Amino acid sequence: MKNTVIAPSVLAADFGNLQRDVEMINESQADWFHIDIMDGVFVPNISFGMPVLEAIGKHAKKVLDVHLMIVDPDRYIKTFKDLGADILTVHYEACTHLHRTVQAIKAEGMKAGVALNPHTPVSVLEDIIQDLDLVLIMSVNPGFGGQSFIENTYAKVRKLQALIQDKGANTIIEIDGGVTSKNAKALVEAGAAALVAGSFVFKSQDPKSTIAELKEITTF
Ligand code: DX5
Ligand code: ZN
Repeated sequence: MKNTVIAPSVLAADFGNLQRDVEMINESQADWFHIDIMDGVFVPNISFGMPVLEAIGKHAKKVLDVHLMIVDPDRYIKTFKDLGADILTVHYEACTHLHRTVQAIKAEGMKAGVALNPHTPVSVLEDIIQDLDLVLIMSVNPGFGGQSFIENTYAKVRKLQALIQDKGANTIIEIDGGVTSKNAKALVEAGAAALVAGSFVFKSQDPKSTIAELKEITTF
């Protein structure tokens, strides 16, 4: 049975009512908090940093899934551990020594994830997939919420799933960007085990029931 992880992206929350939105996620059927950290260098946008993550962590009662869209993430691995990150995902495109970075994340006791931009083929992970707890496939160009889903993602998920099986790895596939009730089931059928959803959840009339809807669609 598929029991897909639903990870609402806090980037789309109302920052004037951050505690309220964090509590909503606590009470919902969501599994993880997805936290987007952007530095204005790796991506053309700046989201939020350590003080805001600390505030989220104070109230959040679920797994903190931290997605770093920053250059040279090695500088902050320990800081994110101290702020409560359970999963730390770095971008393939931002890491010259990816193997070293992944080992450093694990040495801090966190799960290690690697994110791929839409143009980056999954084959670049061939020699590291066995070390990865998670691969995050970007289904939009990173930097902003609310963009439309890139259809090539399905093919990428299937290729990555084949690579994971071929290598006997234990890696889970997470999808990030433009996830809605329209594409959620097909993504899970292609091999995704975790779905991030920002705008679809927070711009809806009733975010908590939208999370429940995504959970239901992806449990089969
Ligand atoms: C984009 C971020 C995403 C974003 C998703 O760079 O990594 O996590 O918040 O937002 P939606 O679901 O609105 O595409
Ligand atoms: Zn993200």
